[in-house]
Amino acid sequence: MSELLKAFEDELQSKNFKGYWQNVQGDVYREPVPSYEPCHWRGKDLFAAIEKAGEVVGLDLSFRRVIQLWNPSLKNGTTRTLVLNLQMLKSGEEALSHRHIAGAVRFVVKGSGARLIVEGESFEIGEGDFATTPSWTWHDHENNAGQTMLWLDGLDSPLVRLLETDFHEPDPRKKQTVNKPEGYSASTLGALRPSWMRAHGIQPPAFAYKWADTEKALNKVGEQPGDPYDGIVLDYGNPLTGGPTLPTMSCQIHMLRSGEKTKSHRHTSSTIYYVHRGSGVSTIGDKHYEWEQGDSFVVPLWYHHHHENTAKDPAIFFVMSDKPLMDAIGHYREQA
Ligand SMILES: [Fe+2]
Ligand SMILES: [Fe+2]
Repeated sequence: MSELLKAFEDELQSKNFKGYWQNVQGDVYREPVPSYEPCHWRGKDLFAAIEKAGEVVGLDLSFRRVIQLWNPSLKNGTTRTLVLNLQMLKSGEEALSHRHIAGAVRFVVKGSGARLIVEGESFEIGEGDFATTPSWTWHDHENNAGQTMLWLDGLDSPLVRLLETDFHEPDPRKKQTVNKPEGYSASTLGALRPSWMRAHGIQPPAFAYKWADTEKALNKVGEQPGDPYDGIVLDYGNPLTGGPTLPTMSCQIHMLRSGEKTKSHRHTSSTIYYVHRGSGVSTIGDKHYEWEQGDSFVVPLWYHHHHENTAKDPAIFFVMSDKPLMDAIGHYREQA
């Protein structure tokens, strides 16, 4: 670099300017290069860790007994935009009501009979059930079921941190008053619905999706060809609009039939997989990851990936991705 140019750059810097040439040299081809890597978490390790947390971590220590699936190539979180956690709630434990800008979802992996109270409705949740607490909805929960509950907590909090829009508010009431009848949303947000139940803004209403319905749907569509890249896919859709689960994340159930092997593709959304049932192997980039029930793994954006069910029984994934965000800002691209 000439002394003249160096002096000019120093002068620019002293006035809070920067020359374009200081960052970009030449007009070159570019495509996404994620700054974080695939990662695989063993269910055995995760469940042993949460058991241990049950012994040594009380709710007096922290607001939540939660273990994050931390991707070590990131400072925090599971992908750049999403985080998946495992939470343990023992019988008799509860969480006080609060709300935050981060949108959250739950997928129950063990136990039944706990109550999730969202915006005045109490949802009973059990194994395989999926429930949403959309952005800025009041939520609290309690476990009076006489058994320990384990559920996955998925949040878009890494995105919120990136955008620095992190509002969080404890509820002065501590606990919400339940002011809707049991099964209110299930009865009013279906194909037959009161005429005043319409979407307001882009956030969906809170909703609980029962495993019995999921299983019934899987059985009904299980003989269809499905998606060449993902097998049978069920979307947890916005019950009012059929849109994505939350504006920032799409949650799905994937099923790979016995011996099913998907085609390879890549896309600009990042995907987190939790193995609810079965075993098999996924290839992400040039590495193979053998998984079994309870395992989780993450496919960062633009990594080629495909999956294979190597067992006799169907494999079922609970899946979370940031595709709706990519769609909303026009950044979604997919390549076979
Ligand atoms: Fe929360
Ligand atoms: Fe994919």
